[in-house]
Amino acid sequence: MSRDFLITDLDSYINVSQLEDCHLEICAGIAKSKTNMSSRVIPHLEMQSDFNKVIEFKTNESARIGNVASEGSEHLKTEQEKEYFNSLSHEQKKRFLQLYKNAYWDGEFVRIKFTKPDCAQHAFATFHDSMCEWHENAPHFPKTMEFIKSLPFREIGRVLFFVSYHYLHTDVHYDRKDDCFDGRHHFVWLNPFNQKKFFLVDDNKKKHTISSKSAFFNTRYLHGAEPSEKMTYSLRVDGQLDEDFCKKTGILWQAR
Ligand SMILES: [Fe+2]
Repeated sequence: MSRDFLITDLDSYINVSQLEDCHLEICAGIAKSKTNMSSRVIPHLEMQSDFNKVIEFKTNESARIGNVASEGSEHLKTEQEKEYFNSLSHEQKKRFLQLYKNAYWDGEFVRIKFTKPDCAQHAFATFHDSMCEWHENAPHFPKTMEFIKSLPFREIGRVLFFVSYHYLHTDVHYDRKDDCFDGRHHFVWLNPFNQKKFFLVDDNKKKHTISSKSAFFNTRYLHGAEPSEKMTYSLRVDGQLDEDFCKKTGILWQAR
């Protein structure tokens, strides 16, 4: 069921221009925010010209995209390396792996509402208001918050800006939560000014660019973004959408 849909265009239902009006606030707000580097250690396949190879590799279930912890234990062999690595904080480990093991990150996250620490292990925590809390960054975005709260959600969970660096392919990946989208978990992805060249790859290895500025898409398919000549941001709001909104848009809805 989770793979039944690819992309749902929401532009007829969501007024993205209201978010575009917040651009000045968003740029200043992101500048003032505490950010986190994205958490994946990315193989360099994205940087190679043969995109089919990227897709082939990433489609393989065994081609795990390493996280900081596993990458550290897998690639650092000597006691001295391990000693240095273990003395670093989570964010410092990422920086270290960039310099020492050629890892790269495609961007940063700016948390607006985020998973509560004691709920982090719950697979679907990001879709639940009760498992998330507003982050100290949120007050930098008062006008944007009005927009977020006007979205057709019955419940809002995690809210994040994804900031992508320039000239980097973002990590092409799929999310590994089976049956994530059974009608109880939704998100709205917002791409003001169509800045991000985001795409999904279907089972026939065909790329589908998301041309709308707002969408819900199936993260069980490979997804990523083409390099862009400038730094870009998109906004993702997780939660459960209103039942009526789902009826209008053809999105699956199920009571929790
Ligand atoms: Fe994803």
